[in-house]
Formats: sequence, C-alpha cells, structure tokens
Amino acid sequence: MGRMTLDELREQLPVTEEVAYFQTGTYGPALAPVVKAVRESMEYEALHGPARPATRAVIMEKEEEARANLAELLNVEPHELGLGSNTTRSMQRVLRNIDWQEGDEFVTTSLEHVSAADASRGLEQERGVTLKVVDGDESDAAFLESLDGAVTERAKLMLISHVASPNGRIMPVRQAVEIAHERGVPALVDAAQSIGQFPVDAQALGCDYLIGSGPKWLLGPMGSGYVWVAPDHTESFRPYFTPDVGSWTKPGAPAEKPTARDRAEFGTYNHPLVIGLGTAARTLMDVGLDVIRDHAAALSKILREEMSDTPGVNVLTPMEPGKAAGVTTLSFDGCSEEDLQALIAWLDAERNILVKFQWLSAPLIPGHAGMRISVAGFNTEEEVHHLITSIREGMKR
Ligand SMILES: Cc1ncc(COP(=O)(O)O)c(C=O)c1O
Repeated sequence: MGRMTLDELREQLPVTEEVAYFQTGTYGPALAPVVKAVRESMEYEALHGPARPATRAVIMEKEEEARANLAELLNVEPHELGLGSNTTRSMQRVLRNIDWQEGDEFVTTSLEHVSAADASRGLEQERGVTLKVVDGDESDAAFLESLDGAVTERAKLMLISHVASPNGRIMPVRQAVEIAHERGVPALVDAAQSIGQFPVDAQALGCDYLIGSGPKWLLGPMGSGYVWVAPDHTESFRPYFTPDVGSWTKPGAPAEKPTARDRAEFGTYNHPLVIGLGTAARTLMDVGLDVIRDHAAALSKILREEMSDTPGVNVLTPMEPGKAAGVTTLSFDGCSEEDLQALIAWLDAERNILVKFQWLSAPLIPGHAGMRISVAGFNTEEEVHHLITSIREGMKR
C-alpha cells in the first residue's frame, strides 16, 4: 500500500479541473479508482455470467476485501457492518429495530439532518413517542448539561450527529454517549458528515450504532451507506423478521448465529457498489485521514478568519480549534433567502464555484438559512482564496 499525496488524490477527481467544488458534505465526487472498480466489476459479472461459480468467486473476493477496508476505516469487524443504500435508511433500520410504545422517549439534538427530523416526527405520529430535542448550538458544557437533564429511563434511544450537518460543529459525542449509557439508553451516532473528514474510531466513541454514507466525504459511489452494530447488540438487532439461526444451517449442524450483516442485508444487492465503497475507504486510508483533516483544518481556518473579518458576514461554525473540521457555514446580514440563492447561483455561473444553500434547522424556519462550504482534502488554498474574493465581490452586487 503506497502513500498517496493530496495532490495525487486531487488528480483522481477530474471534476476539480472544471469547478471549485465545495459541496462534498452534500455529495462528494466519486474518485476515479472508485468509478473504475464499479465499472470493471460490473463488466466482469456481465461478461462472465454473475451466477457462474468462478465469476462469483472473483467478485466475492473483491467484495470481502472491500468490506474489510471499510471496517478498517471505522476500526470495527466486517461482519458488524450492514451495508445499504444511504444514511437515512441505515437510521431507519436502527429505529425499526426498537419496540416503540406510546410514551417512550426519543432524545436527539436541534442540529440533526432532516432525515432524523422526519423519522422523529414519524415516531411521534405513528407510535406516540415523546420527542426530546436538546439545543445543540450551545457550548459543549451547556449542551451536555441540557442532555443530562433530557435523558431519562423512559428514553429508548439517543441520536446525535458526530458532525452537525447545518454548521459543521463537532459534537461532544463520547460524553453524550456516556450520559445516555448512565441511564441504560443506547446511542446512535450519525457519522454521515464525519467519516472521511477525519479519523473516526467507532469503538472509541462508545456508541451502540453508527451510520454513514459512501458518497459524501468518503468520495465513494452514490447509493452506498452502512450501519455499524456494536457486538453487544448483534443478538437483539432485528430491523427485519429474521430467524435465530440462519436458514441454510444443515439440520444437526452447529447453529450458525446471524451476524449484524446477516440481519441488515437481504436478497440480491449491488456487488460493484460495495467494491466501489471499499475502494474509496482504501484510497482515503492511503492518503491518511489525519493528513486530510489537517489540510482541511488549515484551509478552513483561513476561510473562517477572512470571512469573520468581512463586514456583513457571520461565521456560524465554531471558530475554536477542534470544534469543527472542513465545514463552514456563513450567514449574511440583511440577506433574504432569494438574495442568498442568487449569490450561490452567481458563484456557480460566474465564478465556477459550488457551495450549498443550507437550511439551518429541520423542520425549516423561513429565513433561517446560510451558505455551507465544504473544504475537503482535495481542495486547494488557491481555491479557498478564489472563494473568499468571489463571495466579497458577489456581496457587492
Ligand atoms: C448528518 C447527516 N445525516 C444524514 C444525512 C442523509 O444522508 P443520506 O442522503 O445518505 O441518506 C445527511 C446528508 O447530508 C447528513 O448530513
């Protein structure tokens, strides 16, 4: 495994020749080796017959290697991972796994993605679950104190994002998980915005479940995602109807206990996508997640400092080192939603820069929106300066 530099990583992303891409937190562009792995394995299956044992052997070997790569990235075991199509459905699997009764409580934060807000409201409406939303936009100490007051023995689950989608804040996840566990409440970590931005050790976070997507910071294929189930929960993890012993166990043979992978994955799925996801994980590990984190932190520092020195601009992302990674969200004084949309469209059309119009809450509050900028390992300092100058220029118009 050779080390790959950030410049070499950038070379694997032809889109960087076309546009200054600051939308990785929405969809990261798929790396060239990912596209190649998906295409080649799909072609291989089609050319040699997907049901042929020799074809299957080749594809399954690549697939197991891919699963091992993703597991290595998260510091977990491959069979503890259930692959699927995105973070939202992985979240739903964890929620469906719980026997919710009226009056049960679901604790979450105000900085969750709309997928969590929708699921929470669905639980409230369908099952009479009581929602407790803790303000995530306070200092870590104030947030943890509020969380401590909100988690009771009636809670069936606590959900927290590792990196908050609206403003890129790194949440004090480990301490939040400890608070939940003190009351015997399992914790689900939404790592959609953290995996691929910096090193993440799922076990060290201490959580019970962790979910994420392939196509964001991991630069993997669209339609790929995963749920990690901590070993203690393998037995109880039942998002679908499954038997206690695998159906292909021969009568009289030792029971084959289903793994979390068995319980999460059913029927035919897309082998090439799994291979592409593992290729993405391997490529980022070859670069080094610490290298990616340090680069994005250095560029984000320039961006945040320059923007906070710009009259009329508010940096909504914490400025303290370590409290945010590559995401920076800005708001603009006296700027309507339409003005903001127009500025973002102008950056795209006239300056070849892609940033995101971002609602700051879910459900959305009219007027409560910002510009979200994702600085990834492949972005350059030159691009960041181009962005800063262009935002200032666009604001004058
Ligand atoms: C924190 C967070 N959770 C969940 C999601 C939804 O991810 P997916 O589109 O993979 O379902 C996103 C997407 O931006 C996110 O930022």
